Amino acid sequence: NLLAVERGHSVFSPSRYLGPIFPCHLTFCMLCLFIFHQPKFISFSGTVWTQNILSLIFYEGHRNGTEDIVIMDRVPWLEYNVNNLDLANLSSPRLFFTHLPYYLVPRGLRNRRGKVIYVARNPKDVMVSYFYFSKFMIALETIPDLNTLMERFLSGKVVYSSWLDHVRGWYTHREDFNILFLTFEEMKKDLRSAVLKICNFLGKRLSEKELDSVVEQATFENMKRDPRANYEFLPDTLVEKSKGQFLRKGTVGDWKKIMTVAQSERFDMALKEEMKDLPFNCLWDSN
Ligand code: A3P
Repeated sequence: NLLAVERGHSVFSPSRYLGPIFPCHLTFCMLCLFIFHQPKFISFSGTVWTQNILSLIFYEGHRNGTEDIVIMDRVPWLEYNVNNLDLANLSSPRLFFTHLPYYLVPRGLRNRRGKVIYVARNPKDVMVSYFYFSKFMIALETIPDLNTLMERFLSGKVVYSSWLDHVRGWYTHREDFNILFLTFEEMKKDLRSAVLKICNFLGKRLSEKELDSVVEQATFENMKRDPRANYEFLPDTLVEKSKGQFLRKGTVGDWKKIMTVAQSERFDMALKEEMKDLPFNCLWDSN
């Protein structure tokens, strides 16, 4: 699956590439995602948000605005080294984001030698976020209608495969990892608590003032204005800026504005029952 995903991207060879990365202190931000055909920039569960939060927590220069480094370089993409950084030699603690399923991440992570933050989001909002995203990301196929997208999504015929398998896989193997599960919805409801959870998990102590600054700069409105965090640094060859933005709405339950009752019921039937044994039922309840 993964090799199919990355076919054409010469940067990626899991054993060769991830091997040297693993040994030191490492934090991953895992995000549920799905995409189609030609993966470029993906996820829809809060990747960019979490990238920025981690950058703000760990880099004083990011927090106080004295350094102008985009979050893609602060917290690079593990499986697609977009800016050709020397990932193996980044200074510790190294921060990465990835969309990989649990069985494809560096083997040593299973020995709990790195920390993983897994962010999940209501899959209906994930799907709707992608629907709009595909309209302005040039490399992606524009999905003709939501039904087409929904059927592909529910049957896992999307890059990185099934959303359900991804979430279930990470959750059922949680004992193998040093992992913190968060949801987009809880981040939205109480960002300060979510940032504190992340700090506690990563053993990072911030003063009240620093914490306030992280929370303030990680709000949707402020991130949207921050050129280091809003992904407007992407070139016009990749995105048609007149057709959309990475930071689109940033709300919970936007799916209700576009999905019909029948589509929502179909979605529930396919996923909700399957998720009964997982704590992510809250993803549905919060909408
Ligand atoms: P919407 O399309 O629903 O607005 P990812 O970065 O994983 O691709 O996720 C993108 C989604 O996260 C988009 O959702 C985007 O608006 C939302 N997002 C990014 N930063 C956010 C923030 N600070 N607060 C709330 N939502 C945010």
